[in-house]
Amino acid sequence: MSTPESLPAYTFSQPIVGMIWAQTNTGVIGADGGMPWHLPEDMAHFKRVTTGHPVVMGRKTWDSFPDKFRPLPNRTNIVVTRQEGWGSTPEARGAVVLDSLDQALVEAQFSPGGNEVWVIGGGQIFEQAMDDCNVAVVTVINTDAAGDTQAPALGPEWMFRGASPLEGWHTSKNGTEYRITMWAKGDTEFEAPE
Ligand SMILES: NC(=O)c1ccc[n+]([C@@H]2O[C@H](COP(=O)([O-])OP(=O)(O)OC[C@H]3O[C@@H](n4cnc5c(N)ncnc54)[C@H](OP(=O)(O)O)[C@@H]3O)[C@@H](O)[C@H]2O)c1
Repeated sequence: MSTPESLPAYTFSQPIVGMIWAQTNTGVIGADGGMPWHLPEDMAHFKRVTTGHPVVMGRKTWDSFPDKFRPLPNRTNIVVTRQEGWGSTPEARGAVVLDSLDQALVEAQFSPGGNEVWVIGGGQIFEQAMDDCNVAVVTVINTDAAGDTQAPALGPEWMFRGASPLEGWHTSKNGTEYRITMWAKGDTEFEAPE
């Protein structure tokens, strides 16, 4: 068991649309509008993977970020909602707001760093976006915490492409065990983390 000095840094050799999430052993990603764990190392990993690239999220995920943390810096924050006018509310400040996920994914590809687009949740958005994605970076947290939002099920078209650590768990400074796994469709090419 160890805490990684440096978390995985993937280098992709083709444009990708990735999903990134953290889940419990049973696939829970959210509870009561938040996440039922606190894992600073995963937040650092998330920041490292997504910084410099557009992020696409559902309105509820945007809502889950405290005001002072949104928009996520150095990333175009694209938020989808079906609520007309929501984009003009103070709550939406700093977000690019669109009413269609397809449009959001196109917009993202033309945003700075759009060679890598990161879909960051939540459950509704992962379900709808997964057909358009070719990479999934999934942190598994060794807990059975309950929740109300589930990760999407990765079907047989998704291939396991690596994990950190390969066996067992990293241990957070706060004692939580976790493991970062990498999945890709078909022949998506990338350099694995050291
Ligand atoms: N563990 C993780 O890695 C992770 C990551 C992200 C989020 N989460 C958690 O997941 C939960 C939120 O997930 P969620 O599934 O409830 O909500 P969500 O996917 O974040 O957002 C859902 C909202 O997005 C909008 N939306 C959905 N599909 C749309 C479409 N096709 N076109 C336009 N707008 C669309 C709707 O907004 P309107 O209602 O405004 O119309 C909908 O209510 C929270 O608990 C959050 O903390 C966890």
